[in-house]
Amino acid sequence: MVGPPGAGKSLLASCLPGILPELTPAEALEVSMVSSVAGMLENGRISRARPYRAPHHSASIAALTGGGLRVRPGEVSMAHLGVLFLDELPEFQRQALDSLRQPLETGEVTVARANAHVTYPARVQLIAAMNPCRCGHLGDPALACSRAPKCAADYQSKVSGPLLDRIDLHVEVDPVRAADLALPPPADGSKEVAARVARARQIQTARLDGTPLRTNADLDGDLLEQHATPDEAGRTLLLQAAEAMRLSARGYTRILRVARTIADLAGARDIGRIHVAEALSYRRQAPRA
Ligand SMILES: Nc1ncnc2c1ncn2[C@@H]1O[C@H](COP(=O)(O)OP(=O)(O)O)[C@@H](O)[C@H]1O
Ligand SMILES: [Mg+2]
Ligand SMILES: [Zn+2]
Repeated sequence: MVGPPGAGKSLLASCLPGILPELTPAEALEVSMVSSVAGMLENGRISRARPYRAPHHSASIAALTGGGLRVRPGEVSMAHLGVLFLDELPEFQRQALDSLRQPLETGEVTVARANAHVTYPARVQLIAAMNPCRCGHLGDPALACSRAPKCAADYQSKVSGPLLDRIDLHVEVDPVRAADLALPPPADGSKEVAARVARARQIQTARLDGTPLRTNADLDGDLLEQHATPDEAGRTLLLQAAEAMRLSARGYTRILRVARTIADLAGARDIGRIHVAEALSYRRQAPRA
């Protein structure tokens, strides 16, 4: 999420746990095993709530990915099967952020020790928030940033391109005006959205039954091809966009997974052009000047 201060980015992230499905018993066991290794299993009880971790931007590499004198799971493992929220993304140390690239790609993290390696699970949903530039007001006509465009370019370049490429949905969050708050609340609250998410997850669980995979995000290789090949019109659009946006192979497969999920949310069996188009609209564009 990119947007000016006060747009509601932190608020939105904190609402996310409220729309996620409960852990299955098997998942709850995995999560509790990580907590137990970290010495943080609360009075031995197994919770069905998805983990939600929001480390501060001063967090070290060891705190994020694990390690230290006594090897312990890091935040990315404590968030396994749940959400890792990085607020004020560019304020994190560059190396600490880059240490998350491997776990984001593979769903696990290996901590090197003098005489052994320890591997912890780390399959997370990463959510990040940032202001568009250091002073935060790029693009706001009333409070225009006086140092644009350098302010934004400097700030955004603190996060590496390869990390940003691993983020599937890039959304701009508009400032909230006082008049917006006076509007009637939207028809869809967290409860209604949670029901839609649960339905989409059920479709995925049924589709991946008999495989070790759980969600569309896990789809790869043959299974990706089998379950996430768009229809004719969708394929044509994707090929055109891949060319125009110069998508990497990684970007291409990531779009297929997102399009599969958008189609699942819509209850559509086939991935159509409209689903591909929406997935493409969330792809990161080059930073705006
Ligand atoms: N859509 C909204 N409806 C009601 N309150 C909001 C909304 N968006 C933001 N706020 C309130 O505005 C304040 C700033 O929001 P916050 O999430 O901290 O913004 P950001 O993280 O983008 O700087 C918070 O007190 C939050 O509760
Ligand atoms: Mg905030
Ligand atoms: Zn600025």
